[in-house]
Amino acid sequence: MTSAPALRHYLQFSDFSAEEYAYVFERAALIKKKFKAYEKHQPLTDRTMAMIFEKASTRTRVSFEAGMYQLGGSVVHLTTGDSQLGRAEPIEDSAKVISRMVDLVMIRTFEQTKIETFAAHSRVPVINGLTNEFHPCQILADIFTYIEHRGSIKGKTVAWVGDGNNMANTWLQASEILGFKVHVSTPSGYEVDQSIAGIRSADSYQVFKDPMEACRGADLVTTDVWTSMGYEAENEARRTAFADWCVDEEMMRAAQPDALFMHCLPAHRGEEVQAEVIDGPQSVVWDEAENRMHAQKALMEFLLLGRQAG
Ligand code: CP
Ligand code: NVA
Repeated sequence: MTSAPALRHYLQFSDFSAEEYAYVFERAALIKKKFKAYEKHQPLTDRTMAMIFEKASTRTRVSFEAGMYQLGGSVVHLTTGDSQLGRAEPIEDSAKVISRMVDLVMIRTFEQTKIETFAAHSRVPVINGLTNEFHPCQILADIFTYIEHRGSIKGKTVAWVGDGNNMANTWLQASEILGFKVHVSTPSGYEVDQSIAGIRSADSYQVFKDPMEACRGADLVTTDVWTSMGYEAENEARRTAFADWCVDEEMMRAAQPDALFMHCLPAHRGEEVQAEVIDGPQSVVWDEAENRMHAQKALMEFLLLGRQAG
């Protein structure tokens, strides 16, 4: 038996290097292949993961929970409403207690500082299952999906149409690490903020006022809801501000002929994306959703066991 790797967390995309991503993507492909062949892959037998949700989820919950069972482990599911987290037990205390009982923790919460505080007091790896600022597991799956369909993303152009939110920030981090370009178009007042995105320079992205221009020549067009979880009070103002940021067939025509369309889901047809696009031939949203599970299985294995052969 190999010894446990040094404690690592996955709190933002920049926590791994390009070389580590190359390993994780390769591993995800192998793990997916085994799953499709009904071949058991259970390196995490007897390991337990705590999953803490302070916001709603369908994909993140199912992909992590099913993924952990398939790896031979089990999960404990906690929400703010049914744990002491909702009754103001300090995050530090929660982290110390929970991490003495489980091998891995996945958290979906509000501020990035909350997950960072938890990680600082945790004895076990902590995974970001979405914060206001980042959604690294989603971009992990999205890039894995891009590679499956088109090969390496290095040197390609991703068009981001919509809110300068957690998904946009994570795409920016990924572009800096993996060497691709992001064309960003957001309504004014909803721009990406380089310091929040946590990127070193503006070299890997370009801002466009007109979403059509952002899509021109892109290899991948992607968007997300106009109103993210936690921002519901801004719903009406956002509906007005984002009216022209709906990915439509014309935008897809401006992109490369073989451009893919992605959306992390849940989607609102007729708002951020036209039904003809998300349900059209260039859309890979269902692969993207499925790949959450395969990519995260590789991530969990990597954090708990390090690099594996076979
Ligand atoms: N894309 C994503 O994270 O979906 P859920 O909110 O359903 O987990
Ligand atoms: N930006 C969205 C993503 C949902 C998966 C949100 O934070 O609600």
